[in-house]
Amino acid sequence: MNGAMRQEPHLGRCRRILVVNAKGGCGKTTVATNLCAAYAAAGISVALVDNDGQGAGAHWVGQRPASASRVDLALQAHGRSLERIVIDGGQGQSITDGPPVWADLILTPILPYPIDVRAGGNFITEMMTQPRFRASPRPIGVIANRAKPNGPAHARLLHLLRCLNVPIAAVLKDNPLYGEALESGLGLVNLAKSPAAQKEAAAWRILVEWVEEQLPGNALHPQPLAAGRPTQRHAISA
Ligand SMILES: Nc1ncnc2c1ncn2[C@@H]1O[C@H](COP(=O)(O)OP(=O)(O)OP(=O)(O)O)[C@@H](O)[C@H]1O
Ligand SMILES: [Mg+2]
Repeated sequence: MNGAMRQEPHLGRCRRILVVNAKGGCGKTTVATNLCAAYAAAGISVALVDNDGQGAGAHWVGQRPASASRVDLALQAHGRSLERIVIDGGQGQSITDGPPVWADLILTPILPYPIDVRAGGNFITEMMTQPRFRASPRPIGVIANRAKPNGPAHARLLHLLRCLNVPIAAVLKDNPLYGEALESGLGLVNLAKSPAAQKEAAAWRILVEWVEEQLPGNALHPQPLAAGRPTQRHAISA
């Protein structure tokens, strides 16, 4: 947690979005990198903090083609005025060393399996019940990753989130393009190979809008992408 702070070049008006869940493999790096790509495509200056521990985020930034809108690692963004920092909280992230009250907003990806739903629910509950977090609460949104909306685990997730009063910020499909994007420094917003990819890219534009609506003060207004279809807002609630 403190590592994230160490990597930030300057804080200023910059808002920090933390992608975190103690559960490994739930999609933290996927969400953090795709969110960076979506911010950059929307004309908002953004950098990534890579606390993945395996260097997956740093690898992604290194692979990013020059033709794609710029995303730096926060460590290397010297002199650049940043509007948003996205922090990949990394595997096994623990909040026992302090709840993330320095983050402006928290996104927690959860996979559609009972063990993941249980672990994700426990993680969010632990976070929300920490006295420091309760004294200074932050918006939390769940990313239903590789979602199976008709599956029993999804119904369980919705029930749990209703109890916790935490919304679903995005529903992401299981799509092999995510693996491809992670390897090639891109986000789904940069891959418009098929109607399915375009539809998935829209989920990221909607997520950026949702995050901006939740952030306290100074919300930015992302530019619509020239190539993108107008975003249709969908109900984002548990
Ligand atoms: N929506 C998705 N569709 C298809 N593949 C996905 C999706 N989300 C994630 N993946 C794949 O699942 C794997 C794990 O994702 P990712 O690395 O983002 O998880 P993580 O939470 O960062 O893992 P770790 O805890 O190890 O850091 C990766 O191979 C990624 O490409
Ligand atoms: Mg990771």
